[in-house]
Amino acid sequence: MNVAEALKTRVSIRAFKPDPVPEAHLREILDVARWAPSGGNLQPWRVIAVAGDAKDAVISLAKEQFPGEIGERFVYPPNLWDPHRSRRFKVGEDMYAILGVPREDRAGRLKQFMRNYEFFGAPIGLFFVIDKRMGYGQWAHMGMFMQSVALAALERGVSSCMQECWATLREPLAAHFGLGDSEMIYCGMALGFADDSAPINALRSERAEVDEIAELRGF
Ligand SMILES: Cc1cc2nc3c(=O)[nH]c(=O)nc-3n(C[C@H](O)[C@H](O)[C@H](O)COP(=O)(O)O)c2cc1C
Repeated sequence: MNVAEALKTRVSIRAFKPDPVPEAHLREILDVARWAPSGGNLQPWRVIAVAGDAKDAVISLAKEQFPGEIGERFVYPPNLWDPHRSRRFKVGEDMYAILGVPREDRAGRLKQFMRNYEFFGAPIGLFFVIDKRMGYGQWAHMGMFMQSVALAALERGVSSCMQECWATLREPLAAHFGLGDSEMIYCGMALGFADDSAPINALRSERAEVDEIAELRGF
């Protein structure tokens, strides 16, 4: 798999087979991903991986603590504006259309959303931990690390879904994992083998064209 293929075929997988991902695979994935760049080589990331009983404990915690609260480090800015607002709406509508869950079926949509807190059936859940004292720059670097994890996983046939939904449970998760006072969870990620028979995994999100996002000067 070359880099372009990896970038284009990595998609968010929201239904996994129960088959375990061997610990050795996860270690290889993290061993590759740790070469992600970061400003000043700070490497401002730490990962907690849960499987088996440890994963079940987190799933139980989520069931008890949902919906939780979003702190000052919001996931989306309030009153999201276009074109971002429309993009968010479109990917959501496309997903629920595949599942046949209409907009008015709020219970159906919530039920699907709650699958997040079971890691969509994946055998591994990852939590990306950052120091609260870090700034926007280091959060961006964390993103590079997370994408590196996703791509390194893909090369081994392991799929992923990044999960910012865990953001509202940051406080209970921090207590559960015994994080240091200055640490917080940025994001989660489900990791495992895709269930290709699941309709939801057919979702393909769109992207803006190059000319919409890039301004080339002096060429
Ligand atoms: C940091 C981050 C957090 C995300 N959080 C969630 C999430 O909580 N639940 C979910 O179903 N998808 C989540 N996604 C997946 C996005 O919806 C998805 O990446 C986007 O729609 C583009 O689709 P693709 O990943 O299939 O290319 C997240 C993606 C990123 C990058």
